[in-house]
Amino acid sequence: MKQIKRIKGTQDILPPISQKWQYIEKTLRKVMRCYGYNEIRTPMFEMTELFARGIGQLTDIVSKEMYTFQDRSKKSLTLRPECTAPVIRAYLENNLGEARPVQKLYYISAMFRQENPQAGRLRQFHQFGVECIGPQAPEADTETILLGLDIYQELGLKNFSVKINSVGDVESRVAYKSQLKKFLKPQLNDLCQTCRERYESNPMRILDCKNESCNEILASAPRILDALSENARSHFEKVLSLLDQNGVEYEIDHRLVRGLDYYTFTAYEFIGGGLGAQNALGGGGRYDLLAQEIGSKKPVPSVGFAAGIERLIMAMDKENLFPEMRKNVDVFIATFGGKSQEAGFKLAHELRKNDISVLTELMGRSLKAQMREANRSGARFALILGEDELRNGRAALKDLQKSEQQEVVLGKLATEILKSRQM
Ligand code: HAM
Repeated sequence: MKQIKRIKGTQDILPPISQKWQYIEKTLRKVMRCYGYNEIRTPMFEMTELFARGIGQLTDIVSKEMYTFQDRSKKSLTLRPECTAPVIRAYLENNLGEARPVQKLYYISAMFRQENPQAGRLRQFHQFGVECIGPQAPEADTETILLGLDIYQELGLKNFSVKINSVGDVESRVAYKSQLKKFLKPQLNDLCQTCRERYESNPMRILDCKNESCNEILASAPRILDALSENARSHFEKVLSLLDQNGVEYEIDHRLVRGLDYYTFTAYEFIGGGLGAQNALGGGGRYDLLAQEIGSKKPVPSVGFAAGIERLIMAMDKENLFPEMRKNVDVFIATFGGKSQEAGFKLAHELRKNDISVLTELMGRSLKAQMREANRSGARFALILGEDELRNGRAALKDLQKSEQQEVVLGKLATEILKSRQM
């Protein structure tokens, strides 16, 4: 029978690479705690309508990339392509706003988008993200940026930068869209097909086009910052001033509009230096109107970002930032003859209760083959146990890293091994 393979655009995260994930997750959780964030876990799939209304019907994500299917009761369901809309859904459904006026929630989860796979672009990928729900104040926007930067810095990343813009409030956007359309109208035929389509449906997304001829035209396009309402301008200025005060370098990118429709006011991205085409390490911004799009009676001001873990690993690999991963196994118990196999099995069980990682022979192999396996497993020690050792209550403990050997009293084995960890 034909062997079944994994789906294009998905990855098996195998050991020892999975240790890189654990290392990153541990660091993330540490920084999240410092900023007062708590973890939220939402379902892998949601009603399709949540994303259609939340992210926007005309976005690439909703119109082209979602994994949507009908369940047996003919409901349209979608594997989450992002987690902001689900988090806000959960916030509203569970009345989290009543419990606390500011909810700081973070997630580390798999997302699904049917994009063309390439380096740094997958169909199942993983994000860590934060959503600060409740505050309207610009301090909240800046705080999420500082949090993201702290994570990258804590992981040692050097080659990255911050791009920031404001996409304004509704009033600013109405004014800006008409200015932009007026500017583009005489040159409409010189724009690419996608931009021509966006001219009516979503003109601000034209700013995001990477096509060279569009780039030339867009270089002299009006800037949204010049069209901001008083409120949007002062909000943006405060965000920037707080970044300045906290020593953050950033670049204002007038063409940063983001690919999801829910943003208002601040929009920003973390850009990785050596990542090629898929260089967005993360992105986010404020999304004060999303809650109402998905059914809230009143606005719920919120801000957050999400960042790709696969891209972060690529960036960290480029800068060689992963510490040498600790080998997990403390001791391999090799046995030969008589009742040693059963005794070794029992000893392993006792050692494990002392937080010691133990491997025993499970294939019935010779002592020589067991020693080969002990070396292959990366175990720090091998304990060699036979009939005589059992009778005397003493056995040889071989340090496989130092190629040294000592005799230990079996009853003191746990203490000996734990002691060696400190050395
Ligand atoms: P996004 O810009 O669509 O925003 O995704 C955030 C990050 O997820 C990207 O910068 C990238 O690192 C990673 N990413 C996206 N698509 C892929 C893919 N196909 N393969 C690998 N990595 C990918 C959001 O998802 C918003 N929910 C962010 C947000 C949170 N805004 C406010 N709160």
